[in-house]
Amino acid sequence: MSVLKMRTLPDPVLRQKASKVSKIDGSIQKLIDDMIETMHADAGVGLAAPQIGVSLRVAVIEIPGEEVITLINPEIIKRQGERVLQEACLSVPGYQGEIKRAVTVKVKAQNRQGKEFRLKGEGLLAQALEHEIDHLDGVVYVDHIKDQSKLWELSE
Ligand code: NI
Repeated sequence: MSVLKMRTLPDPVLRQKASKVSKIDGSIQKLIDDMIETMHADAGVGLAAPQIGVSLRVAVIEIPGEEVITLINPEIIKRQGERVLQEACLSVPGYQGEIKRAVTVKVKAQNRQGKEFRLKGEGLLAQALEHEIDHLDGVVYVDHIKDQSKLWELSE
């Protein structure tokens, strides 16, 4: 496993619509392992493949204290509610913003064995699911911020 270099804005890979994974082979397994290691190295809650320069529909999420969730070809099938919360992204270092996200999110995806599963998330998991799946469509959280006073630089 290796820790890979984090891509940050304005890297064009973050703006591409990532391709579907058609075959979950050894290269995808290695990609997932590297993504998990990179997520741990950067203390992130989630990571999408475009963030390490791979334009494929793969994401990993780890809510503190819970197991890593691997999502291959994930799709949001239902969103419910709306709330305002604070968000940041490893690809936008030094910034934090305030955006609207759903309260609960239902997702279908394949796991790393290729088996389809459904997952309902609320709280931090719902936020991470929307955030990481956005990355697969070339969307970064700052795109949801219309009022620039809702995006601020973090002081060290
Ligand atoms: Ni992000």
